[in-house]
Amino acid sequence: MKIGIEAINFYTSHYYIDLKCLAEDRNVPFSKFYHGIGQEKMAAPPPDEDVITLAANAAFAAIQSVDTKKIDTVIFATESGIDQSKSGGIYVHHLLQLGKNCRVFEVKQACYSAAAGIQLSVPYLTLYPDRKVLLIASDIARYGIGSAGEPTQGAGAVAMVLSAQPNIVAFDKDSGIFTEDVMDFWRPNYRDEALVDGKFSIKMYIKALIESWQQFSERSGRGFADFYRFCYHLPFSRMGEKAHIHLAKYAGKEEYSNEFMMSQIIDTLYYNKIIGNTYAASMYIGLLSLLENSDEDLAGKRIGFFSYGSGCVGEFFSGEVLPGYQKFLAPEQHTKFLNNRTEISYEKYKEFFTYSIPEVDGDHRTPKNETGLFRFAGISEHKRIYQGLL
Ligand code: COA
Repeated sequence: MKIGIEAINFYTSHYYIDLKCLAEDRNVPFSKFYHGIGQEKMAAPPPDEDVITLAANAAFAAIQSVDTKKIDTVIFATESGIDQSKSGGIYVHHLLQLGKNCRVFEVKQACYSAAAGIQLSVPYLTLYPDRKVLLIASDIARYGIGSAGEPTQGAGAVAMVLSAQPNIVAFDKDSGIFTEDVMDFWRPNYRDEALVDGKFSIKMYIKALIESWQQFSERSGRGFADFYRFCYHLPFSRMGEKAHIHLAKYAGKEEYSNEFMMSQIIDTLYYNKIIGNTYAASMYIGLLSLLENSDEDLAGKRIGFFSYGSGCVGEFFSGEVLPGYQKFLAPEQHTKFLNNRTEISYEKYKEFFTYSIPEVDGDHRTPKNETGLFRFAGISEHKRIYQGLL
């Protein structure tokens, strides 16, 4: 029996800034961002867009061709949740009008949590092949105005329906896992922006990759050459390149040229370069970028996935692309959607970024912007109000 992705879709903010604006403001050459970290544009969510509206917009399209009565589990993966107690998934469950016989919960471990969602869903669906899991990863990456991490912000969500009737990717059984208690990136409850030791986080990412790979290859018997393409967690696209070069070297592939190694990951980077970091969602936006931009038919090809969440947990796992997967994707709509976004100035981005909701009780309405089919309309009596615009 195959378990994997039956349907998948992503969504990002309608607004973005070109990192040339940020470079100009900092008086640094824009090539530092375009080439040094490999990022060109950065999604900038307005005040009425949050992880719930991003998630609902991503999931709405993903479930259109699915028998939603069979979804009995919604897993909401995020590290930028909107409540310390209630799962963001319940708001999305309501907005999508899913059935009441459903368990809904939130998972957190920095950018890793959606991979945990997959690893827990595969054995669950093997036991209950008539059911489906809606796994949503949704995040807004915030490091702060003027910080080194600022050019690696972004926002977006991915929704995947996982089931025993996969159309797109079927996951393999084995994975390799690594955990170590480190402070490379964290966000205390009292802060809206993450704290990060950027260079250390890159080191830990690479360490977790090698350790996870080691266990994966021992358990699965698979080697580097068994993979046609690799999808990495992408906090910025150069990180995917660095990771891939390290892994190839560790796996004894010194003979591989840079050009060949790039061909194994280049298609995964396009969307991320113009959206920015989407934390838990980034690797799956990379998967969609690969499947929707590859010139080749990838059916039957094996993909290696490496998910990393600071703090830290890493996991290497794999899957096979299924025949006819193209019929279940929407590359034209995604290209149109990305091209039709609105570019905003650095000043406008700062206005969006610094907008804050008063903590006092009372009615608060958020200013109206473009947010797709759903919007965060405001707060009343400390309760968040969402509107479906269908
Ligand atoms: N043209 C081209 N490249 C340039 C350049 C220019 N004008 N100026 C600098 N660069 C290159 C640097 O050589 C460096 O390349 P390298 O990584 O191959 O050495 C790269 O751009 C980044 O420059 P650097 O000065 O090291 O960056 P920084 O101090 O601004 O910080 C991060 C970069 C990624 C550490 C920072 O953005 C950050 O903390 N991000 C958040 C944390 C994160 O994403 N962690 C990843 C693991 S989860």
